[in-house]
Amino acid sequence: MKSNYYYYLMITILFISSSNVTLSQSDSCSSEFNLHGIFPFKSSPICQHVWNSQDFILRYLQSEPHIWSFLLSAPNTDSYIAIGFSPTGKMVGSSAIVGWVPDNGIGIVKQYFLGSLDPDQVIPDKGDLQLVNNSAAIVSQSARLYIGFTLNTTLPQSRLIYSVGVMNMLPSANSVLSHHRDQTVTVLDYVAGHSFSQSSYSRVKKSHGILNMLGWGIFMIIGAITARYFRPWDPIWFYSHICIQLFAFFLGVSGVIAGFVLENDLDMEVDKHKALGIFILVLGCLQVMAFLARPEKTSKTRQYWNLYHYVVGRSLIVLSIANIFYGIHLGGEGRAWKAGYAISITILFLVAIILEVRMKMRK
Ligand SMILES: *[C@@H]1O[C@H](CO)[C@@H](O)[C@H](O)[C@H]1NC(C)=O
Ligand SMILES: *[C@@H]1O[C@H](CO)[C@@H](O)[C@H](O)[C@H]1NC(C)=O
Repeated sequence: MKSNYYYYLMITILFISSSNVTLSQSDSCSSEFNLHGIFPFKSSPICQHVWNSQDFILRYLQSEPHIWSFLLSAPNTDSYIAIGFSPTGKMVGSSAIVGWVPDNGIGIVKQYFLGSLDPDQVIPDKGDLQLVNNSAAIVSQSARLYIGFTLNTTLPQSRLIYSVGVMNMLPSANSVLSHHRDQTVTVLDYVAGHSFSQSSYSRVKKSHGILNMLGWGIFMIIGAITARYFRPWDPIWFYSHICIQLFAFFLGVSGVIAGFVLENDLDMEVDKHKALGIFILVLGCLQVMAFLARPEKTSKTRQYWNLYHYVVGRSLIVLSIANIFYGIHLGGEGRAWKAGYAISITILFLVAIILEVRMKMRK
């Protein structure tokens, strides 16, 4: 296995250095041209423009269950280029493959562990990536750098960080990296083969949070309050209850859909949150169906129906509140979100208490 990769690599480098073929100055996913010979992909890799402002292009291919080959291409600005694999989406704690080509033309590729933002804590020849022996190489060709490497892993981290060093400044002899000139964080969906910036990921995450919080966690409660305390205003209470709950259900379903989109881009265990979310959705559907199948007010079964509707509704609200706090915790959103939601439900709770007291007094 080892000699095999080594062989491919040497052939590749020989091919590139001796090639009469003039590679075009630019690289692009739509041009098949550069692929041949640059890196030993066994078949056509997935290609992504991963960082438009710096013209970074990533190709990757899973050739065997544990073997993932990557080829990163970027303009050669006489600086290092780097691709980091991050468990959290943050620079600190990630392991990166960094490469540069010194004046002598012999490229250097190293793995670094990013212990902190302090350059002293960016440690060469350390990291969590299991590189296949002799698989990492970098070449400079037609004003671009091509850095290739192969990882031995079931599925690489999906949060990728790219960075590029200061122009015309290569790392020193002891491989200490200077601070990057620019950096970006993306999420790569290996299966679907698309990469998007962290900001669109956080937009989906935010939508998921807000929609579910408003739908299941706030409007559903307002709808329940309407049904319980606004009975004297008949039939206004009835129509308000239906409208509010349908609106809440609509928001909630959108939030659940956003959650499924989000799950694809996470490399995180969210099974419990998801299971609870689906259970809540099922309860929500039961409520909608119960509404459609409600017996006549005068019917004997109506009191059982009322009890059922009440119990399912209350359970839904309690579980939703729990799952929302749990989701905020999973999302790592911390205090502001927790406090915001806690204040909202406290207000609703106080309103409910006041209305409850008034109702009891009226009776
Ligand atoms: C990948 O790792 C496994 C176990 O860690 C090892 O047995 C296997 O030889 C490795 N494959 C390559 C190509 O390095
Ligand atoms: C890779 O190299 C290390 C150290 O040189 C060696 O211990 C290991 O067995 C090699 N792995 C493979 C898969 O060849």
